[in-house]
Amino acid sequence: MDFFVKEIKMKPIPKGKYYANIPSINSIDSLDLSSPITFFMGENGSGKSTLLEGIAVNLGFNAEGGTVNFNFATKDTHSNLSEYIQIIRGARRPVDGFFLRAESYYNVATYLEDIYKTEIALGYKLDYYGGIPHERSHGQAFLGLILNKFKPNGLYILDEPEAALSPQNQLTFMAKIYELSQSGAQFIIATHSPIITALPNAKIYNFNESIQEINYRDSDSYQITKLTLDDPERMIHNLLKK
Ligand SMILES: Nc1ncnc2c1ncn2[C@@H]1O[C@H](COP(=O)(O)OP(=O)(O)O)[C@@H](O)[C@H]1O
Ligand SMILES: [Mg+2]
Repeated sequence: MDFFVKEIKMKPIPKGKYYANIPSINSIDSLDLSSPITFFMGENGSGKSTLLEGIAVNLGFNAEGGTVNFNFATKDTHSNLSEYIQIIRGARRPVDGFFLRAESYYNVATYLEDIYKTEIALGYKLDYYGGIPHERSHGQAFLGLILNKFKPNGLYILDEPEAALSPQNQLTFMAKIYELSQSGAQFIIATHSPIITALPNAKIYNFNESIQEINYRDSDSYQITKLTLDDPERMIHNLLKK
């Protein structure tokens, strides 16, 4: 299968840019993204969002999140790491795309609300899950977006999509992105979720001092969750005894 984003290569980052000091990003020469689903995992502050946003902006997505034509910048917080990324693209072009930035959900909801209100005004019958975004919970609106707007052959870049979703809805999310990834869609997702990362057709990168491909069961999220669920009393005991 041909992927929209096959690989990224990094150009030298000038000293003085904060992202020049993020070890994971500094360590990249090239990163293979030729997988229907790629997960970025790793500790808070390890550089996942910075790289995800750099890739999204380089591809033409708005740094604040949304679609490629989505122009509502509220504040200029993006890092411009995109200038130092070279993206090796495949021959196909995505038919659709979305960049979900972790912190800017409210803006995305406002944008979707405008789209849905326009569709209602045009007489469309909207029976998607979740209804008008601001009148629904974050999780319902986000799931509504995925179930109703994401398409086969689309390119989706998502930062911590699990933040809004119950475990049950993480499973619904997984089933949908699995189905879409089997019909030509590509996903690049930063996540801490030990549920979502169970998807079988995914590549998992762990961000640390460098970026290493890991197996599902070797992620910290999986290990810590498993230890806690297997024996919560022992975990709490060990945590508090110091
Ligand atoms: N605008 C910024 N200016 C300076 N440092 C930043 C900025 N944004 C993020 N950082 C730093 O870059 C590092 C990586 O952040 P981030 O990519 O958000 O990590 P992650 O998404 O893996 O939690 C962190 O140490 C963070 O403090
Ligand atoms: Mg992040």
